[in-house]
Amino acid sequence: MNIDLSGRSAIVTGSTRGIGRGIAELLSDCGANVAIVGRDPATAEMVASTMKSAKGFGCDITDSEAVTGLIGEVEKTFGAVDILVNNAGITRDNLLMRLKDEDWDAVLNANLKAAFVATRVVTRGMMKRRWGRVINVASVVGLIGNKGQANYAASKAGLIGFTKSVAKELASRNILANVVAPGFIETDMTAALTPEARDALSKQIPLERLGKPADIAGTVAFLASEYAAYITGQVFVVDGGMVM
Ligand code: NAI
Repeated sequence: MNIDLSGRSAIVTGSTRGIGRGIAELLSDCGANVAIVGRDPATAEMVASTMKSAKGFGCDITDSEAVTGLIGEVEKTFGAVDILVNNAGITRDNLLMRLKDEDWDAVLNANLKAAFVATRVVTRGMMKRRWGRVINVASVVGLIGNKGQANYAASKAGLIGFTKSVAKELASRNILANVVAPGFIETDMTAALTPEARDALSKQIPLERLGKPADIAGTVAFLASEYAAYITGQVFVVDGGMVM
């Protein structure tokens, strides 16, 4: 199976590092033009310069106007946006009693509202062209919950409900929307884990290791490809078997 995305253009939010960068690298290796999106345009450009056909864009995805502007710019640069990967996300963990309104709003805005705004804008062109792929990066925490992550779990569970609704609404226009739900992946987000915590975690994972960004990227590239033309509204758990 050879995934060929040549002629397609993709936006991957939060792609200057971690899972997003891994996704952008693989989409670019598969031949897509890729918009690397991060808060800092210089970093985004630098990361884009390491890939085959990519361009860096600066955008704070919690700023709805900036997201609309970004999509317009990417459409101008690449001619269209065929694939949107809503990957950028944050955590502001705390136990329920200590969770502040600001922690709730920040996480819901970055993880859920930003995906809604980007999807609303990008699907306009996709509807006209009768082809589109929206791939949302949630988390297994959105399926099973987690102590100290009520805000994060709510945002990721919300992303799953959002994706299924978009899938139903836009299927007739050949726009497919799916979720990839990672388990524990080695990135800056999980770098704070102590070696002991990492070992304890690995023991709960049948494949006995944390995942790598490339493990998530493979599923995203598949979902963006023609091999996934009959799949929409689904949640793909990529977690080494941790949740089953
Ligand atoms: P990370 O923290 O390494 O990278 C997140 C990226 O999003 C960064 O490039 C950051 O700059 C960007 N970002 C955050 N807020 C932004 C904003 N307002 N505007 C523009 N860019 C923004 O995180 P990681 O681990 O790569 O996570 C990526 C996605 O995968 C997130 O949605 C996360 O919730 C999800 N995930 C990660 C897991 C893990 O174990 N690392 C597990 C499950 C889900």
